[in-house]
Amino acid sequence: MRFLRALTVTASLVPLASAAVVKITRSGKYLYDDAGSRFYIKGVAYQPQGELAAESQANEANGGFPEPSSFHDPLSSEANCTRDIPYLKQLSVNAVRVYSVNSSLNHDACMKILDDAGIYVLLDVSLPLNGSIDRASPSWTTNLLDEYIRTIDAFNKYPNVLAYNIGNEVISAPSNTYAAPYVKAAARDIKAYLRSISSNALVGYAAVDGDATFRNAVAHYMTCGNDTDTIDLYGLNNYQWCGASSLTASNWDTITQGFSDLTVPTYMSEFGCITSPPRLWTEVAALLATPVSDVFSGGIAFSFFPTSDGYGMTTIDGNTVTTNSDFTRLAAAYGNATGPNSPAMSSQQNTAAACPQESAALLATTNLPPTPNPDVCNCLDKSAFACLVNDATANDPVKVGELTNIACDMLAKAGSTVDCTTIGSNGSTGTYGPLSMCSPDIKLSWAFSAYYMLNPIATSCDFSGNATRNEGADAPRNAQDATIAADNCFAGKPAVVTPTSSPQSTGDSGGSNSPSESSGAATKSGAQASFSLSSMAAVVIAALGVVAGAVVV
Ligand SMILES: *[C@@H]1O[C@H](CO)[C@@H](O)[C@H](O)[C@H]1NC(C)=O
Ligand SMILES: *[C@@H]1O[C@H](CO)[C@@H](O)[C@H](O)[C@H]1NC(C)=O
Ligand SMILES: *[C@@H]1O[C@H](CO)[C@@H](O)[C@H](O)[C@H]1NC(C)=O
Ligand SMILES: *[C@@H]1O[C@H](CO)[C@@H](O)[C@H](O)[C@H]1NC(C)=O
Ligand SMILES: *[C@@H]1O[C@H](CO)[C@@H](O)[C@H](O)[C@H]1NC(C)=O
Ligand SMILES: *[C@@H]1O[C@H](CO)[C@@H](O)[C@H](O)[C@H]1NC(C)=O
Ligand SMILES: *[C@@H]1O[C@H](CO)[C@@H](O)[C@H](O)[C@H]1NC(C)=O
Repeated sequence: MRFLRALTVTASLVPLASAAVVKITRSGKYLYDDAGSRFYIKGVAYQPQGELAAESQANEANGGFPEPSSFHDPLSSEANCTRDIPYLKQLSVNAVRVYSVNSSLNHDACMKILDDAGIYVLLDVSLPLNGSIDRASPSWTTNLLDEYIRTIDAFNKYPNVLAYNIGNEVISAPSNTYAAPYVKAAARDIKAYLRSISSNALVGYAAVDGDATFRNAVAHYMTCGNDTDTIDLYGLNNYQWCGASSLTASNWDTITQGFSDLTVPTYMSEFGCITSPPRLWTEVAALLATPVSDVFSGGIAFSFFPTSDGYGMTTIDGNTVTTNSDFTRLAAAYGNATGPNSPAMSSQQNTAAACPQESAALLATTNLPPTPNPDVCNCLDKSAFACLVNDATANDPVKVGELTNIACDMLAKAGSTVDCTTIGSNGSTGTYGPLSMCSPDIKLSWAFSAYYMLNPIATSCDFSGNATRNEGADAPRNAQDATIAADNCFAGKPAVVTPTSSPQSTGDSGGSNSPSESSGAATKSGAQASFSLSSMAAVVIAALGVVAGAVVV
């Protein structure tokens, strides 16, 4: 099932009443409550369906899953949460999975209502469209890190956030497993951010199902290595248990076997096949009993709300909820289900698994992309680029994508000695261009500037009215200026005019960064990114100084 891609939130320091939920801890392969008993997720997906986005060619080539283009934040309406909570209680769920929230809205009421009912939230932090890692053209960039952090900042005060999912089905087929290093880099950086704010929330990923080789390769890749960059809670969206199925007929025996050596807890991040109605939910008993419970810690039934393709256990009309027989049967199945309370927490310890080799089913290097560094990107944009994308274009992600292809083609056709590898990357070979971490609009300004520098006259910086020469106080006047400025940006010595203002607050085309980013991951990223900045700088500098001594006229 492909559903919404995650969302965002905003912080306000409202004092919170004491929590109804207890702290859940990961130990080894399992989750435990504060009494040391095993914790099983008995959940339901809780997100009304958004509008589906137009199918793109790139999406078609990568599995063709329908993607939503918008969302309704289910945790932003107190009235709706109040309306739904009796039904969530009837279902006996202890968790909901929410796919998209808006970080600028207030979630206090809904989170409190859920907390009072003992319900945890598994929250996806990505958003539809440009708010998540693009499986067709993956990168891990400042604007996504910033968006994810904004959501975390908005939810960090709630005691009942069990996990933040950093992606849902980003990797959808063996052919795009090269997207995996970017997802894992996102997990690494979000884990670092959570540590920096003393959050105990887990970092999750929800994987698409597939054939055993693919399914197992992705699971082992995402959970291998040391604790700094492994996923804490691995989800599998699985729809193989249909009707009155069995462990063998559903493949759940094979799936359990394939995941049995994972070193982190795993769960069914979506389940509830609709192809053999009625849904009997007999898989709930199987999920919460050995052998499946030896490997899985519960799951999320899909979906509380109805979907256009036939899932759903309620229909909503204004303030009225009508349940169907799927709901009744799931309530009965969850109501009686308790998983075995073993193995004991004391028997568990976190261990690191070796990473799988690259193969046809796993085109992913273990060399992860760097932590996005907004200071470097914003500094370059301000002081090293002579030709910038216009604000209106910068705010249109589709246009930015088109123009990046156009500008890169123009660079190549002009016989430039530099090419767009500076802003590109490859998750199979582990080569990451020095600006691959920057937001799409800043990458575009790099391409515009590199082209412009080939022949720095006004008409070279136009791109059908999408670009304007950089007239800022720090703008480079010639190639030498640009070279020195780029060098300084990578060396962490930005030529800031007003030293008291942060590079994020310039309000320029790259201005999607919030103060939270500079106070969090960006600080850490400075240290992590410094390892190879000098070699990266050389590439960017060469591009900007492509015509030695070129003078901007
Ligand atoms: C979030 O909500 C604000 C306020 O209603 C709105 O302006 C903004 O467009 C929303 N953001 C998203 C991504 O939906
Ligand atoms: C996605 O694009 C919108 C404009 O359409 C922009 O406001 C938003 O910041 C972008 N999101 C990210 C994560 O870049
Ligand atoms: C984890 O792995 C990373 C990358 O291989 C390494 O830099 C880091 O030092 C390791 N951390 C620990 C605690 O072993
Ligand atoms: C609340 O429920 C109503 C009725 O179904 C719906 O139209 C509205 O979009 C919901 N609001 C949110 C924020 O989900
Ligand atoms: C759940 O348990 C109750 C009483 O303990 C029993 O009557 C009922 O049949 C059980 N339901 C299912 C679905 O097993
Ligand atoms: C900008 O570029 C796009 C191509 O992506 C083009 O359609 C458009 O006419 C250009 N000019 C403006 C002002 O948008
Ligand atoms: C990455 O590089 C490999 C080896 O050069 C190439 O075969 C592959 O097409 C590249 N992948 C992407 C996504 O560019």
